[in-house]
Amino acid sequence: MYGIVNKAMEDMVTNLRGRATWEAVKRLAGVDLDSFMDMQPYDDAVTDRLVDAAARLFSLEVDEVLEAFGEYWMLYTAEKGFGDILGAAGTDVFEVLRNVDAMHGRLALTFPDMRMPYMSIDRIDAHSATLHYRSDRTGLAPMLVGIVKGLGARFGTPVMIEQLPRLDDGLPGERFAITLAP
Ligand code: HEM
Repeated sequence: MYGIVNKAMEDMVTNLRGRATWEAVKRLAGVDLDSFMDMQPYDDAVTDRLVDAAARLFSLEVDEVLEAFGEYWMLYTAEKGFGDILGAAGTDVFEVLRNVDAMHGRLALTFPDMRMPYMSIDRIDAHSATLHYRSDRTGLAPMLVGIVKGLGARFGTPVMIEQLPRLDDGLPGERFAITLAP
């Protein structure tokens, strides 16, 4: 993942628990770097090890750390650094989700080596939809859940999101049921 993702992890841990805790996370993760460069791609294993170490240090499940991180990413990093792009992607949760692939596509001009996920959304009614998510990475569904909750917070619309059982259709990807508070 690009360094900006690991940097967001650093910001989250530092803001919530302080710099010394972040140094402890890096030590436990065996990451021997002073800082990450936003625009440099790092091996996914670095991000995985940081998430694992944070989970161990805070006695949380890996999925809980990933979800918190997804929410943090949306509300702080994406909002702070890419507010214009995010603003152009839509004015409500479903609209942004409909445009997220195009938005990542535009971001690929900035992050040329990015391996973006792919999503599509099927609206059921004004408040509910099914989100399809496909990535060549595994295990990041909880991060997606956090990002979608962060989107809800951005628009002041609490979101319920639940991963659906896999279909037996042999197609790759995960499905989520999303319900917006009325
Ligand atoms: C302005 C807002 C956003 C920015 C700047 C952004 C940027 C990025 C970047 C740089 C990565 C790392 C890719 C890599 O290094 O290979 C990433 C990954 C990801 N993004 Fe976004 N993104 C934004 C919004 C969103 C939204 C709205 C969603 C979903 C609703 C989303 C879902 C994801 C997921 C799930 C990943 C993990 C990669 C994977 O699944 O393989 N992002 N994004």
